[in-house]
Amino acid sequence: MILVTGATGNVGREVLRALVRAGAPARALLRTEGEDVAGVEQVTGDLNEPASLEAALTGVRAVFLLPGYRDMPGLAAEMTRAGVEHVVLLSSLAAMATDTDNAVSEYMIRSETAVRESGLAWTFLRPSAFMSNTLRWTAQLRAGDIVRDAFGDVPTASIDPYDIAAVAVRALLAPGHEGRIHLLSGPHPLLPADRVRVLGQVLGRDLRFEGLSDEDARAQMSATMPAAYVEAFFGFYRDGTIDEATVRPGVHEITGRPPRTFAQWAAGQADAFR
Ligand SMILES: NC(=O)c1ccc[n+]([C@@H]2O[C@H](COP(=O)([O-])OP(=O)(O)OC[C@H]3O[C@@H](n4cnc5c(N)ncnc54)[C@H](OP(=O)(O)O)[C@@H]3O)[C@@H](O)[C@H]2O)c1
Repeated sequence: MILVTGATGNVGREVLRALVRAGAPARALLRTEGEDVAGVEQVTGDLNEPASLEAALTGVRAVFLLPGYRDMPGLAAEMTRAGVEHVVLLSSLAAMATDTDNAVSEYMIRSETAVRESGLAWTFLRPSAFMSNTLRWTAQLRAGDIVRDAFGDVPTASIDPYDIAAVAVRALLAPGHEGRIHLLSGPHPLLPADRVRVLGQVLGRDLRFEGLSDEDARAQMSATMPAAYVEAFFGFYRDGTIDEATVRPGVHEITGRPPRTFAQWAAGQADAFR
């Protein structure tokens, strides 16, 4: 049995679908009962409360784990106690950032360290930014044809969550991934304006991107995230402490096919922007 955390999220949902396609036994961890995800068995638990996972972990061989919860060593200890053999941790390229005081890097590194020191077999996935982050433009695109966002001059080889899931499922089901760190990205570095152009083609609309000044970007971001995370993203994209523009070979090497393009991701999500 494989337990998938973040089951209702962009990546976890794709991991469950891929496990079902592979015919592997899978269980979805949900915070609250309800939503059907990929038709698999559901169990409730809170990743911030390791003791709440006792039922979820019963009979589990491997876990797909999200990072950044309150007590990552406690979570790993709970998994060890339950007899889990292998953890595939969704981390980030931020774990390699040069500034380890950065709040996002800190929680990725803290999560990797807890799993590494637990004695469990592990695989770390370090993806670039997700294509699904573009969903934050839905309100602007429903309201009009202009997208305004931060860091308009920063190219990112963002990745489709589908591809992160494809790699995760290889790591969960096939031998040889223990103790390995997979660096993952999409196939092309794109500027936000490039992504808006592709979305326009997919939606059949004449869309335009306008970059926010750093001052306006800081104000917009501060409305939706804690100050430490705003500083973290300015550290990544203004101080250049992360490299998300480089195309990484991981998806191709592990799945045997190239990573999906932004146009493929956008075509699958078109309804969300209408
Ligand atoms: N976005 C990026 O560019 C990026 C890049 C690299 C790494 N990451 C990492 O990838 C992670 C997953 O991304 P995503 O886009 O798939 O996330 P997402 O769509 O926001 O989904 C988060 C999932 O985690 C669940 N969750 C949240 N708190 C929980 C808790 N205390 N106990 C149990 N489940 C909990 C949510 O469940 P509910 O349905 O109950 O809310 C949801 O299923 C991020 O959290 C981030 O750390 C992100």
